[in-house]
Amino acid sequence: MNDTQIHGGDVGLISRMYNIPADEIINFGGNVNPLGLPEEVKTAIRDNINAACSYPDVTYLELKKAIARYTGADPDSLIAGNGSTELISLFIKALKPRESIIVSPAYSEYKREAELAGGSVVLFPLKEEEGFVLSLERLKALVTDKTDLVVLCSPNNPTGSCVDTDTLRELLDCLKEHNAYLMTDETYIEFADDVKAVSAMPLTNEYTNLFVVRGTSKFFACPGLRLGYGACADAALRERVLEIKDPWSVNSYAELAGRVMFLAEDFIKRTRTLILSERSRIAAELNKIKGIKLYDTQANFFLFRLMRDDITANDIFEGLIKKRILVRDCSSFPFLDGHYIRFCIRMPEENDLLLNELNKILQ
Ligand SMILES: Cc1ncc(COP(=O)(O)O)c(C=O)c1O
Repeated sequence: MNDTQIHGGDVGLISRMYNIPADEIINFGGNVNPLGLPEEVKTAIRDNINAACSYPDVTYLELKKAIARYTGADPDSLIAGNGSTELISLFIKALKPRESIIVSPAYSEYKREAELAGGSVVLFPLKEEEGFVLSLERLKALVTDKTDLVVLCSPNNPTGSCVDTDTLRELLDCLKEHNAYLMTDETYIEFADDVKAVSAMPLTNEYTNLFVVRGTSKFFACPGLRLGYGACADAALRERVLEIKDPWSVNSYAELAGRVMFLAEDFIKRTRTLILSERSRIAAELNKIKGIKLYDTQANFFLFRLMRDDITANDIFEGLIKKRILVRDCSSFPFLDGHYIRFCIRMPEENDLLLNELNKILQ
């Protein structure tokens, strides 16, 4: 099958194409926390089912206070949105960048939005031989006075590579000189070993040319709720974003969930313990398999490259889906060819199943 257009979460589509009931597919493509929703969120929604009968607070004041407590950002700098996707879209629409540089391979929405806004896009390649780690010097050399925006995802989907806060500061200083903005997508940041050392969130109090986007879909396992947020110290830009944003785009249940999920300390701790321990265990197991190259990851997923000519990512995809295991063939990402697979960390027994099947295919 040619799965180039299939997103990680498209279980319904795969289920129809392969005639497999959706609930029998183990989805290693969605990058969603396998622990499921925090109990606090379930209880809040269950106990407030009638929240759907009223509009949420259009200013999202209490929600923004909860996000501010969790992130350390100034509540006035925050905008709540319908998933990080709405924030990415609104920010680019408001900024209208004539020229954007997108650190790639990356999530496809940045390019789509920058082009929809009428601008041109330069894809800055993360290099395989550099382990897909950002070379700041190479990126800085590409920035000119024509650059309006640099987009960076950290940890990056699909490579898992991360940029530390000091490097972000250096990049922001460079962009300031060129009157350019940085948008960082921190959808996977809570899975990093040391969140403080890599997040751009504290820099939103210092730099006005920075927009940080975060979601809750992955870490808090709620892609169907659609809750994300953005932080930006540039009041004029925030105003423009709010002018074009539809009111109530965060629904009552998502608003309610957002007010309790960040307080779910036990859930947060259990998630990090599970992901960080499985991440090192899986890395050790994968490194034993001959013919694949694994890249360092700070996310809840792995990217690996098939180093053999006789087997492609599509072969792996097809081999695994027969076992009801769904992984992501990365051939649709820029700068990746048909030899890259991405899969996310799930529960230990599911991870074992995947490792086992992979081993069999690659033997
Ligand atoms: C890097 C990245 N950003 C944003 C999103 C979209 O997330 P949300 O559900 O918060 O809109 C995804 C989804 O896969 C993603 O991988």
